[in-house]
Amino acid sequence: MKVVKVGLLGLGTVGGGTVNVLERNIEEISRRCGYQVQVVKASARNINAARICRTDAIQLTDDSNEVINDPSIQIIVELMGGHEPAKSLILEAFKQGKHVVTANKALIAVHGNELFAAAAKNNVTLAYEAAIAGGIPIVKAIREGLSANKIEWLAGIINGTGNFILTEMRNKGSAFEDVLKQAQALGYAEADPTFDVEGIDAAHKLCILASLAFGMPLNFNAVYTEGISGVTPLDVTYAEELGYRIKHLGIARQNPNGVEMRVHPTLIPEKVLIANVDGVMNAVMANGNAVGSTMYYGPGAGADATASAVVADIVDICRQLDSSASSHVPALGFLSDKLETPAIVPIMDVRTAFYLRLSVQDKPGVLAAITAILATNEISMEAVLQKEPKQQGADAQIILMTNTVTEKSLLLALNEIESLDSCNGPAIRIRVESLQEDT
Ligand code: HSE
Repeated sequence: MKVVKVGLLGLGTVGGGTVNVLERNIEEISRRCGYQVQVVKASARNINAARICRTDAIQLTDDSNEVINDPSIQIIVELMGGHEPAKSLILEAFKQGKHVVTANKALIAVHGNELFAAAAKNNVTLAYEAAIAGGIPIVKAIREGLSANKIEWLAGIINGTGNFILTEMRNKGSAFEDVLKQAQALGYAEADPTFDVEGIDAAHKLCILASLAFGMPLNFNAVYTEGISGVTPLDVTYAEELGYRIKHLGIARQNPNGVEMRVHPTLIPEKVLIANVDGVMNAVMANGNAVGSTMYYGPGAGADATASAVVADIVDICRQLDSSASSHVPALGFLSDKLETPAIVPIMDVRTAFYLRLSVQDKPGVLAAITAILATNEISMEAVLQKEPKQQGADAQIILMTNTVTEKSLLLALNEIESLDSCNGPAIRIRVESLQEDT
């Protein structure tokens, strides 16, 4: 059996998982790719730290250049995260003719255009299945499985930590901070968990998915991003009373004016399959003009699940070691000289329905005044809930579901509503998506 030597940059949760999966499934993997895959070197910040994997056959170093410069290593697996030194190390690996597998979504989203070009120039592959949705083979599904389609839209729960937090809030009424600590202990959260909570991690992933789906260069700065830190248990409960779940969705859509890319909390009808994706699980819906709606589901974070995607990329590269990288599937699925840069639809021009919650004085005529303002702004209501104050003198809560409007029109109406004397404080507003075939 031929041997291929692999070097790891980073031996934390995913690095440890990668070593374990390669060891556990050594036979299956070699039967699939024709190589015995051996991890021979790994760099880590602290080489004496406790590991989730055995390291007796791996040479550990705190100098990543030692891994890159080892001439026996053909495949580098970058699991350090962040922009630097990961980017410089990957570029150096390319120069030395090494293929690279990465789980680094921030790096691909922000520097992917440059990195893919550098890989092509050096006739090597940069594989990144593990960067999106953990163990779900979503890159392959969109890039290869749906290559017959014009993809109209996709929508996904693409951050396991955020989904875990929202699920525990709904099921157990747990406090946000407690659930976040659990997610960190389970190895789901990013080194900086604000990336999970504020939607930056999901925005990185959505940016890559949109480029794969629509054949456009990566454009991270164009993703509109809102996190889940403002979602309250009260809104989770009211949404449920209206027949909806609140999920943190990444949505990319081709509309007649360009491409929408947005990450924000979203109400989804509870009967839609993706509304029932709970815990650390991720799911991505992709709607193609031939296949219709499809959904891909699985664990979005964690050591072995993410390692599953890393190892699949190693297997792919092994299968291609004897051929020129120019004959392989293009990095984003479209030929690199055929990528097109579309207009990006600003969030103010995006049309969605809205869930609104208003804290108002408990007196006659308040609901009528609010609905009059909505009517003047040509916004109609799909549903209304009114909640009496918990004690005398406290605010009542009015919950409204609107029809589909542009963000701009809704904000104009809300401005008027919030300036009513009877309305206390700013409205809570959460976008609503039906995620039906023709959404
Ligand atoms: N922090 C990420 C998540 C890890 O929770 O989804 C997987 O990318």
